[in-house]
Amino acid sequence: MKKINALDRQRTIYLDGAAGIRPALPVDFARLEQEARDKMHPEAWAYIAGGAGRETAMAANAAGFDRWRIVPRMLRNVEQRDTTTDLFGKSMPAPFFLAPIGVLQMAHSQADLAVARAAARFGIPYVFSNQASVPMETCAAAMEDASRFFQLYWSRSDELVVSFLQRAKACGCSGIVVTLDTTMLGWRTRDLDLASLPFLKGMGVAQYTSDPVFRRIMDQTDSSPKTKTKITWSAIQTLLAATRNFPGSFLANLRSGAGLRAVRTFISIYSRPNITWSDLPFLRKHTDLPIILKGILHPDDARKALDYGVDGIYISNHGGRQVDGAIGTIEALPGIAEVVRGKVPLLIDSGFRSGADVFKALALGANAVGIGRPYCYALALNGQAGVEELLANWMADFELTMGLAGCKNLEEVHNSELTQVS
Ligand code: GLV
Repeated sequence: MKKINALDRQRTIYLDGAAGIRPALPVDFARLEQEARDKMHPEAWAYIAGGAGRETAMAANAAGFDRWRIVPRMLRNVEQRDTTTDLFGKSMPAPFFLAPIGVLQMAHSQADLAVARAAARFGIPYVFSNQASVPMETCAAAMEDASRFFQLYWSRSDELVVSFLQRAKACGCSGIVVTLDTTMLGWRTRDLDLASLPFLKGMGVAQYTSDPVFRRIMDQTDSSPKTKTKITWSAIQTLLAATRNFPGSFLANLRSGAGLRAVRTFISIYSRPNITWSDLPFLRKHTDLPIILKGILHPDDARKALDYGVDGIYISNHGGRQVDGAIGTIEALPGIAEVVRGKVPLLIDSGFRSGADVFKALALGANAVGIGRPYCYALALNGQAGVEELLANWMADFELTMGLAGCKNLEEVHNSELTQVS
């Protein structure tokens, strides 16, 4: 596993600069975002960068950080800095992990596999997406014993849920991250304006098409259309894409109609909007892995989650992709941390863009932070090497921010005071 030291990282960049070499990946987030946008297909950009409605939840995520300020402390000997921590029994070099993001093939052809390899290189945990472009087994095999989790969307098929849980366990996952906020897709204006949904092309459904239970359900699915689709050039292209994205030979898939059947089956079972708290024991019965509830934004839901005996709470508004107008996650954090009080690990994501953002979340009571879009942009720009460079930068940025704020380790970050700007 490769270790990063902030000063070495900084020195390397400056020394390369002296030799006329600039960093391959923009260090500044705004530039990273802009370059990724220039490179990505408009539909891929819309899907990854977009949020729900007027995108005010995305704005709230960003604005939330600006309302809190770090108050650096002096003369505290920060020569030795320790950014390590652990999550569900596995150590990690910094208090962040890679959040689940679906359909990464829209960013890069190696998709989740490139991300898994980059994460494993540094021992940064990676949460495999339920909507991945590469099956979890393939990613896990590339990670040796590096920490990973599986993100679950609660399907209409209980049997499929159980199969996913079993596969995650067999893959060496350290926990199941159950996403609660996406029982239906949010009103994603950018995707709607392009009338584009990647799943219809068979993208982002690799966990399903590699699953024996899904394949059986699929084989029982009627492939004749329920609604009439106009036969246009685009419709033919969508059919061909779904066929190409289905595992196996293109011609055999075209003959059997497997690609189209997989898409139809996926659409009909991917989520269950009627899940309630009383369904949680079902998960507990079918897995002994830690269960982490993702999408918690209200302290009462955090309290309820603890009452149900969950093993971790994950504050998220899904990167602002689900409820326009939703509370920013940093705003939600203090109230939830007050309830959780260290009883279980408290995770958070949505809108994190720098080491300072991570510092603030830890000071407000989080244990670990999920990075989302930034790694996706790095992936789009330079595949595995891009994600590695991004992670090295984040580790260096966090370590320097921590040290310069007067903290030697995460304990001191947790105990440091922030000031609030009204
Ligand atoms: C799916 O997880 C999405 O946010 O599109």
